[in-house]
Amino acid sequence: MQVNVVRGSIQDQTADTLIVNLFEGVTIPGGATGAVDKALDGAISELIANGDISGKIGEVGVLYPRGAMAAKRVLIVGLGQRDEFDLEGVRKAAAAAIKRARDLNAKQAATIVHGAGIGGLDAADAAQAAAEGSLLALYQYDAPKKKEPQNEIESLTIVEFDGSKVAEIERGVETAVSITAGTTLARDLVNMPPNIATPTRLAQAAKEIAAAYGMKITVGGRKWAAKRKMGGFLAVAKGAGEPPKFIVLEHNSDRDDLDTIVLVGKGITFDTGGISLKQVAGMGKMKSDMGGAAAVLGAMEVVGRLNIPLRVIGIAPCTENMPDANAYRPADVITASNGKTIEIISTDAEGRMVLADGLVYAERYQPKAVIDLATLTGACVIALGGQAAGLFSTDDSLRDKMVAAGTAVHERVWPLPLWDDYQKAIKSDVADMKNGGGRYGGVGTSAIFLKAFTDYPWMHLDIAGVALTEKESDYTPAGGTGFGVRLLIEFLRHW
Ligand code: BES
Ligand code: MN
Ligand code: ZN
Repeated sequence: MQVNVVRGSIQDQTADTLIVNLFEGVTIPGGATGAVDKALDGAISELIANGDISGKIGEVGVLYPRGAMAAKRVLIVGLGQRDEFDLEGVRKAAAAAIKRARDLNAKQAATIVHGAGIGGLDAADAAQAAAEGSLLALYQYDAPKKKEPQNEIESLTIVEFDGSKVAEIERGVETAVSITAGTTLARDLVNMPPNIATPTRLAQAAKEIAAAYGMKITVGGRKWAAKRKMGGFLAVAKGAGEPPKFIVLEHNSDRDDLDTIVLVGKGITFDTGGISLKQVAGMGKMKSDMGGAAAVLGAMEVVGRLNIPLRVIGIAPCTENMPDANAYRPADVITASNGKTIEIISTDAEGRMVLADGLVYAERYQPKAVIDLATLTGACVIALGGQAAGLFSTDDSLRDKMVAAGTAVHERVWPLPLWDDYQKAIKSDVADMKNGGGRYGGVGTSAIFLKAFTDYPWMHLDIAGVALTEKESDYTPAGGTGFGVRLLIEFLRHW
């Protein structure tokens, strides 16, 4: 779907479908909705008076002008209570309206910017949110199967009456198009089956990003990793049939005048648990165990498109975790690239093994901050469910910035404690640490493990509960969510 911006009046648009809006409690609409109401001789006011629409968030009423305007239909989308309205409300309303338009087989839609008028939101932000909500809601994974004929909207025109706001709205829409491209990439990579989204395929995605935006790229295989003594990464890769890839993308590679932020994403393209084999039920979901790597690649796509004025490094250690005659085993002792030794308690705690070497590798960039994203623990899913990622940080100001970014884009992160006391649980008699600390506090012990491989301001996001969703919501279809892309970009843009 193309998104474009024009100056004009919504009621004069030639699109087949117009989208206007309504706050809860309004009886006689004003602004653009009021103008359409007038053109329709009070039909919207009548819908409200009859109780057919109330303005509840996400509710959509439909009217047929039958010649009173060029458009075939008018959708009135609810914005909810005015005093609770925010950018998330814009995204939700835009999503509800565009999905209804699609279901009605609209071809061209025209919408006002929810919230930019009476809502009182910043025009660029509101336009960005409206375009993001619309584009993300229509996302579909292109599965390799016979396709049913489908409704598809060709264009969405964002209409603004106030000429002084048009440039800002255009800027917001451009940002949204870039950000949704990165989110779409991340969703696609998670949705691909694990025999397709192999480490090699993730490396290909990284190469495409590097070529498109002139980034430096390194893709290391087993030999490359062995030369760098990446024992954690290689231990997990030992049982893998697919060749492992350690991916490094560098934006503004040689600009050491800029602050450096390193993003590290767990890239387990399928997690069987290895020798500590997982149970059968639900194992297929472990194709999403590269959700961290997908978020990092998606974010790098956006970093390139927006040419973010920072030095941004994306690292993704990618491999499958398979049972095999060659696989690493419980009781093995592994040496990571910083020389620290790890006693294997469970080969299913493989994420921290590959992240260990990813985090050590980040050091060489002398980063101002390193942020890792990983579908790391079932314990985090139990703690926060699908509502938020768990956040651990050695730096309170980084933490506060990320929490604020998460609230703004509604990819929420929730701080959890990084107490040294968790170290007791991973104390080993035969190595510097164990890779598992037992059931209790499983999310805290995983974070304290990772901390041993960092020596810079660091933040860990456990995205196990949010990388994949079984149920569609607002602008997130079932499947890979792309969680982390919008969050990281919001964080980087406000650095
Ligand atoms: N990839 C899993 C964590 C996971 C669980 C992600 C559910 C998404 C949904 C991870 O590699 C894992 O197996 N973690 C173990 C760690 C334990 C063995 C210390 C876990 O959480 O049980
Ligand atoms: Mn695992
Ligand atoms: Zn895993």
